Amino acid sequence: MTGTPPTPELSPEVASLPAPAAGRGGAFAALLVVVLAASLLMGAVLALPGLRGDPYTRTTLALSGSVENGGRLFRLNCAGCHGLAAQGLVGPNLHGVDRRKNDRQLIQQVVSGRTPPMPRFQPEPQAMADLLAFLHSLP
Ligand code: HEC
Repeated sequence: MTGTPPTPELSPEVASLPAPAAGRGGAFAALLVVVLAASLLMGAVLALPGLRGDPYTRTTLALSGSVENGGRLFRLNCAGCHGLAAQGLVGPNLHGVDRRKNDRQLIQQVVSGRTPPMPRFQPEPQAMADLLAFLHSLP
């Protein structure tokens, strides 16, 4: 008897080793799909308010404002900082502010409280529409 002993056949277990790896690849691909779908959904949810506006902003923008009442509200709530003629005091001069900021940004400025010391106001939509009309009336 000469020669080398026969090479043992690969056991089925060893031969099938790559299979679990492919399985992991599949799981990874599935996870990727889930993550992508989730981020798309998040993007849509985050972008929607910016596109369509939150309910408060939409309601406010659908109303037509009174410059006269807006002026009254301004003198009561805003003139202390922005000046009786909106000429600027602690807060900036607001003449031509509607050329720097659009209506959504103006509403955010008033209701968000994001730029202290300007406080966060919570006017009814009609009062906010009146304030907007007043701001637009400033030359
Ligand atoms: C306590 C002082 C204060 C009061 C009261 C106040 N503001 Fe302001 N406001 C500020 C200050 C300060 C800024 C500048 C904020 C910044 O951008 O850092 C500002 C900024 C603004 C801006 C943006 C100006 C620009 O050039 O972009 C608008 C519009 C505005 N205020 C409107 C109002 C209105 C309307 C009211 C009343 C409902 C009001 N503010 C009440 C202090 C005040």
